[in-house]
Amino acid sequence: MQKSFGALTLAFILFSGMALGASTGAPDPNRGKSLATSLCSNCHLVDTVGQEQANVDVPTFPEIANKVDQSSGAIMAAIMLPKHPMPQIPLTKNELADLAAYILSLRTEEGKKR
Ligand code: HEC
Repeated sequence: MQKSFGALTLAFILFSGMALGASTGAPDPNRGKSLATSLCSNCHLVDTVGQEQANVDVPTFPEIANKVDQSSGAIMAAIMLPKHPMPQIPLTKNELADLAAYILSLRTEEGKKR
């Protein structure tokens, strides 16, 4: 009895922790980075460190970040309504915001001046 109560409590704590994590909506570039690494790096060069260009025809994330007048809204729109050959990737709103926050975090001082 004691033992199963403990397991239930633990399950409850884990579950409410996950629910909280999903509902506190501040975009998190670190979550965005791990999403990008697992979902996007087949095509996009995610970071400048330690990788060759993944695919010459695909803009890298630093390039995307430094486009003139880039914004998280424009990045999210480009992910939700991708131009061929980029595939439509099913993502939650939070995941989209995290990805946009991560990509924008790659914007350099040069990019900000434009
Ligand atoms: C199958 C390959 C592929 C995958 C996987 C992919 N992309 Fe793309 N993506 C592309 C290509 C190709 C383009 C350029 C489309 C074009 O011609 O404008 C693109 C364009 C974009 C753009 C717009 C770039 C611009 O110039 O405005 C964004 C933002 C983007 N991708 C984000 C993502 C994110 C985030 C992911 C992962 C969730 C992802 N992509 C996964 C191939 C891919």
